[in-house]
Amino acid sequence: MYRTHSIDEAKKQKGKVRVAGWVHKVVDLGKMCFLVLRDWSGKIQVTGKKGVVSDEVLNKMKVGKEWVLSIEGTISENPRAPGGIEIIPEKIEILNEVRAKLPVDPTEKTPSDFDTLLTYRYLDLRKESTRNAFIMKSVIVNAYREAMLNMNFVEIHPPTIIGAASEGGAEVFPVQYFENKAFLAQSPQLYKQLAVIGGMERVFSTMPVFRAEKHNTPAHLNETIMLDAEIAFVDEQAAMDVLERAITFVVKKAEEKADELGIEIAIDLSFIPRITYDECIDALNKKGRDKEWGSDISREEERALGDEFGNAFFIYAFPTELRAFYSLPYEENPKICRAFDLILNGLEVSSGAQRIHKYDMLKEALIKKGLDPEDFSFYLDAFKFGAPPHAGFGIGLERLCMQILGIKNIREVMLYPRDRTRLCP
Ligand code: AMO
Repeated sequence: MYRTHSIDEAKKQKGKVRVAGWVHKVVDLGKMCFLVLRDWSGKIQVTGKKGVVSDEVLNKMKVGKEWVLSIEGTISENPRAPGGIEIIPEKIEILNEVRAKLPVDPTEKTPSDFDTLLTYRYLDLRKESTRNAFIMKSVIVNAYREAMLNMNFVEIHPPTIIGAASEGGAEVFPVQYFENKAFLAQSPQLYKQLAVIGGMERVFSTMPVFRAEKHNTPAHLNETIMLDAEIAFVDEQAAMDVLERAITFVVKKAEEKADELGIEIAIDLSFIPRITYDECIDALNKKGRDKEWGSDISREEERALGDEFGNAFFIYAFPTELRAFYSLPYEENPKICRAFDLILNGLEVSSGAQRIHKYDMLKEALIKKGLDPEDFSFYLDAFKFGAPPHAGFGIGLERLCMQILGIKNIREVMLYPRDRTRLCP
C-alpha cells in the first residue's frame, strides 16, 4: 500500500497516515529539513528534525524536486506550517527518482515557453494552474451533460469514421477504411439528425470532431470536442432557448467550482440577447466599417460587436449562402436562414440552426452547395420517411472553456492539442 490517504484527506486526520506524491520543494538546513509533498489533491509540509526523526529518515528527505515518495508519519498541528498542518515522518520509501534535468518547473517559479509545456504536458499538468484548467474542463463538460439530462435529453454516440463529409466542404481528413475512402467526422451533424428522424426527439452528444482547416490561430484546433444537441418539433428560437439554459447552467457550475479552487472565471451571465445578422451589419457600419450584406463576420468583428451587445449574445437570421446546406431558409425570405451563432466574450462558441426537413428542398440545397446528393444518400433517403421539423446546435468545448476561464490560447485546454504542427505527443 503506497498511501492510506490523499494529501487533502490526510490533513483532516489525527494520528498516523501514509501519503504519497511528488517532492514539490525541499529546504535542507542540515539538522532540520522541510519538504513539501504534492499530490493531485494538494500539498503538505513534512518536517524532519535531527533527534526527533531517525537519521535515515532525515537523509531520505534530502532528495531532489519531483522525486516520488511514500511517507508514513504522524499528523501534527503547527501554526508555522502552510495550512497549520504538517507530518512528522517515521518512514520514507523512495518510489522513484528524477534522472534528468526537468524541462518544466511544476512550482511555476521558472516559466517555460508554450511549446515546451505542450511537449512535456505531463510535467505541465503538475502545475496548479494547468491542473485547475483541466479540472474546470471536466466540470464544464459534465455540467453540459447534467443540463441536457435535466431537460430530458438522451446521450447518443455517433460514429467518428464516416463515409460522407458531414458539413460538406473540403476540410476533412481522409482515412483509408479497408478498400473504401472514408473521413474523420467534422461533426455528428447528419447522425444526430438521423436519431431525431428515428423518433429520439431530444438527443445530445459529446465527442471529438476533426477539421482539416489550415488556420493556425489561438482559437482553432484540428481536433476538438463538440457538444451537440438536436431537438424535434422546434424552430431555431426554441433551440436557442435550450442552448441558453445549458450555457447558463454550465457557467453557474463553473462559478461554484472556481470558488472552491480559489480561481476567477471570466464570464458573468444572466440573459443572452438575440441580435439579427442585419443588426450586426448596421452596428459594424455605424462603427465606420464598410461591411457589405452577405459577408461573413470575422473574429475581429465579433469582438467589436461584443463592445456593442455585451459579453454574451446570439446572432441569428444569417444569409443562407453563408451557412451549411442543412440550414432552413425563412419561407418569406429565402435569402436568410434560421441559423444562429452564440458569441461569448467576443468569440463564437456555438452555432446551430433549424434544419431543412423536406426531401426535395434538402436535395436542392445540397446541389446548390456543389455537393453530390449521391454521396449523402444514406442521409437524404431518411427524409423520405417522415422527418419531423427539427433544430439543434454544436458547442466547441475548448472554445467554451477558453471563454469561461479567460484563456488566450485554445491549446491550453486541450490535453494533447492537434494543430498544423502538433501530432506528437
Ligand atoms: P460549426 O462548424 O460552427 O457548426 O462548429 C460548432 C462550434 O464548434 C467550434 N469549432 C471549433 N473549435 C475549435 N477549433 C475548430 N477548428 C473549430 N471548428 C468549430 C466553434 C463552433 O461554434 N454541425 C454544426 C453545429 C450545428 O448546427 O448543430 C457545426 O459543426 O465553437
